[in-house]
Amino acid sequence: MTPTAPSSTRPARVYSGIQPTAVMTIGNYFGAVKNWARLQDERECVYCVVDLHALIGSGDPAGLRRASREMFVSLLAAGIDPDRTTVYIQSTVPEQTELCWLLATLTSLGDLGRMTQFKEKSALLPGGAAESATDEGSFVSAGLLFYPVLQAADILAYRAGCVPVGQDQSQHLELSRGLARRFNGRFGFLFPEPETLLARIPKVMSTADPTRKMSKSLGPRHYIGLFEDEDSVRRKIRSAVTDSGVMPSGRTSPGIANLLTLLGACGHEDEAAAMRDDYLAGTLRYVDLKGRTADALVALTSEMRDRRADVLRRETDLDARIMEMAERARSMAGETLERARDLMGVYPPGRGRPVALSGGSDG
Ligand code: TRP
Repeated sequence: MTPTAPSSTRPARVYSGIQPTAVMTIGNYFGAVKNWARLQDERECVYCVVDLHALIGSGDPAGLRRASREMFVSLLAAGIDPDRTTVYIQSTVPEQTELCWLLATLTSLGDLGRMTQFKEKSALLPGGAAESATDEGSFVSAGLLFYPVLQAADILAYRAGCVPVGQDQSQHLELSRGLARRFNGRFGFLFPEPETLLARIPKVMSTADPTRKMSKSLGPRHYIGLFEDEDSVRRKIRSAVTDSGVMPSGRTSPGIANLLTLLGACGHEDEAAAMRDDYLAGTLRYVDLKGRTADALVALTSEMRDRRADVLRRETDLDARIMEMAERARSMAGETLERARDLMGVYPPGRGRPVALSGGSDG
């Protein structure tokens, strides 16, 4: 049987996921979510808060649930529109987790072991990837190995064709494509091969250490929250690292480059370009760059705080909204799962209550 992709004129569905954290940073916003919001104008979009991925190494049930909810609110505040877009929390859609098992049976263990993220994260732990240590300190969760299978299930459950992610996810996307291809080849066409949508997005670094990507995990000095208050934003920009030794001529130092990136990302590209020229000409006053960048970020974060307050005012029953989104997502993922089960030759799910057999005594 040769699986063929149905010729479709409908533009491919967009899918992406974000880790739940209690704070959405401007790095998350400029690096991903702003682009997600823009894509809503062009395509049907599905966005997910990946709490099941975050479960790996979490150990804080209340914190995880709070973070998932907070990320959901942050996404709405940042412009993801639940009337046009399905935005949901991963654990509300068990169909996806089940698809993860079906796909796991088609996944090569060797491929998973070769994933850079797995190798890096498991090597960070004292025991290393090879150990099957039982003590907490060197425990390497199998979830870390399985991470990309669940990610593939996320994407494929929605038969998404386009996945906007950073370069660091391209290996995971390659695995997703391989799984789609293998499934289609063995069982018949079901999954479009998801393309990585590499947008021109700015890479935002930590202002305290501009050689490292802005991340919550580095500590509060290293990130700026999308809803952060003015004083705190100004303080972080004022103390931003600018020079790190002598730069070859014609190159900006990482700290200056990062501030220029931030200024440009806030919609002041021309000003950022002019300041870059001044820097290269040796006439830029760092206080001016910092002042303008701080102003631009303060304007952004205060607008975002207002929008967040609007969301909380508008969404009077957040849990109901989360469940409404879950239903929409489940119906999409459920349709795919039903076909996957059927094509693979397993039974449909039981109903969770006794099934009336034909010839039974009652109705
Ligand atoms: N692994 C992604 C990250 O760390 C998050 C993610 C989970 C994701 N599932 C996804 C991204 C599906 C795109 C599609 O950023």
